[in-house]
Amino acid sequence: MPSVYIKTYGCQMNERDSEAVAAQLIAKGYTLAPGEATADVILLNTCSVRDLAEQKALRKMENIAADVRRSRPNVVLGFMGCMAQSRGQQLIDKLPDVDLVVGTQKFHRAAEYLDDIFSGRRDKVVEVAEEDRSEATIREHLLNGNAHKSVTAYVSIMQGCNQYCTFCIVPYTRGQERSRTIPDIVAECRELVAHGVKEITLLGQIVTSYGKRDLPTTDGKSAFVQLLEAIHEIEGLERIRFTSPHPKGYGDDLIEAYGRLPKLVESAHIPVQSGSDRVLKLMHRGYTRERFLGIIEKLRRVQPRMGITTDIILGFPGETEEDFQQTLSVMREVEFDQAYIFKYSPRRDTPAAAMPDQVPQPVKEERNQRLLEVVNEIGARHYQKLVGQRAQILVEGPSKKNAARMMGRTRCNKIVVFDGSERHRGQLMDVKIIRAGSFTLYGDPAILDE
Ligand code: 5AD
Repeated sequence: MPSVYIKTYGCQMNERDSEAVAAQLIAKGYTLAPGEATADVILLNTCSVRDLAEQKALRKMENIAADVRRSRPNVVLGFMGCMAQSRGQQLIDKLPDVDLVVGTQKFHRAAEYLDDIFSGRRDKVVEVAEEDRSEATIREHLLNGNAHKSVTAYVSIMQGCNQYCTFCIVPYTRGQERSRTIPDIVAECRELVAHGVKEITLLGQIVTSYGKRDLPTTDGKSAFVQLLEAIHEIEGLERIRFTSPHPKGYGDDLIEAYGRLPKLVESAHIPVQSGSDRVLKLMHRGYTRERFLGIIEKLRRVQPRMGITTDIILGFPGETEEDFQQTLSVMREVEFDQAYIFKYSPRRDTPAAAMPDQVPQPVKEERNQRLLEVVNEIGARHYQKLVGQRAQILVEGPSKKNAARMMGRTRCNKIVVFDGSERHRGQLMDVKIIRAGSFTLYGDPAILDE
């Protein structure tokens, strides 16, 4: 059977989709190739959220077409995911070496399409239609990648987005919001835990909007909180995370859940995007700066140690120096543990791309530098504060930067590197933080008792 190599760009949702496609292909007899040099099928799972991500994948495919295709003409080349969805046939028109374009509601049919190509039934395949219930098809996992059991897993609970932020291409690449059922999601989580998974991250474009259309609020609890409660019941599961929420999803029911559900870790990634009410309104975010600050305050009241990270877009059309000052000040006021800063990138067919007063690139660069300084200074302070403290970590495996050491995450989602061995994998253990680096902590399990 042919071997497949999948390269993934973009968010955790894309990582998860790639994993499900790989698992589905393995179930049909395919094998996974370690790299593109030996693969019979090369698939790029793409991201459209910024132009840079699209350019990277396009350039990669051009290179593959030039190098790999020349020496092995029978290799099958495909694009999947967000850019495949939004550009469709255009991708083959632009790069005629591409054989396959699989949209975001067709991932589960990748094996069918490859069969069609290998058997000669079809020459080129472009499949980007919507498909009913496709949100429930991302469920297979690769549970022992790298020959080791997985400690953590992602579970996709929904697809699509109805928020229509004016900068964002996602509603056009991922479609309308559609949610899986609670029993279906719980069954997947149980299966993962039965295979040794200790921590599950629930994924969706706006996870806090989970089940809104299908499940009524009961006893003051939204569908998302009902789902958290159902997953919390699973014996053997130690930690629950989710990403990404929308600030509007932090009702009192969710905030209160942090005090009530011990497996729900003290960590939240809450995209603020801007500190200026004027810009937030132009972005169609649906909250004010004050409302955002109110949510953070409530969360910290329930969980004072809450690790809070965010996303910020700089240089949104019409952003003035004064608006930017508001973003700097929201950063200082909240003291986010970490912030991911993005320079605004106009996306096709989104309202913001046609807005007046687009911000020149040098201004974006300059604001980026200034914000980065504040983010790093606050981050360093947060991390330094933890030195000398004790923290519980879940050990995930070897450190990415130094494979001779092991790494785990605290409940607040901070990475801790320590001298350990394979026997620590999957363990929940206490360490003493001995040093803080740049957004990394170093721990020592041995000197805990001192
Ligand atoms: N330009 C820049 N950043 C963007 N994001 C989404 N759309 C754009 C865009 N057009 C950022 C947002 C989002 C993150 C995943 O990507 O901050 O939260």
